[in-house]
Amino acid sequence: MKIAVYPGSFDPITNGHIDLIKRALSIFDKIVVAIADNVEKERECLFTMEQREKMVKETLKDMDKVEVLRFKGLLADLVKKIGACSILRGLRAVSDFEYEFQMALMNRNLAPSCETFFLTPSEKYTYLSSSLIKDIARFNGDISEFVPEVVKRELKKKFGFA
Ligand code: PNS
Repeated sequence: MKIAVYPGSFDPITNGHIDLIKRALSIFDKIVVAIADNVEKERECLFTMEQREKMVKETLKDMDKVEVLRFKGLLADLVKKIGACSILRGLRAVSDFEYEFQMALMNRNLAPSCETFFLTPSEKYTYLSSSLIKDIARFNGDISEFVPEVVKRELKKKFGFA
């Protein structure tokens, strides 16, 4: 069985992430969406681990062949533990490349049997990022086009617009 791990902070999940998962489903037998539960990162996140996980699970609940889990520590260790053959990452623009390239090579060093697999989202999401979404939501801008309903609701709550 070809399992791909799709790791990220998902702070919060966006339609760009969902687009990527749908594309990957035509290639892999199973996608494991792995939400990073690292303490240092948590401090930088707007949403807690529980909130991020709730939004991801709610968003992906009807997708067969998709599993959601949280992980602590090294991604390479998770990959080995669940027997994944690929790490899935999105490449939106050249600016993503350097960081992604470094991570891919380091992960290959740590888990040599696992390949990083890059996919490009639909053009309409190439400029979309969780950070931009949070910035727009902070000032009650319209993000309907870019995030699932549950995320829109939680962002409104977070910034006091609901
Ligand atoms: O959505 P993000 O924030 O770009 O995701 C980054 C993430 C979670 C994939 C990356 O920080 C990660 O893999 N963290 C786990 C710790 C780890 O394995 N670090 C070494 C990477 S080479």
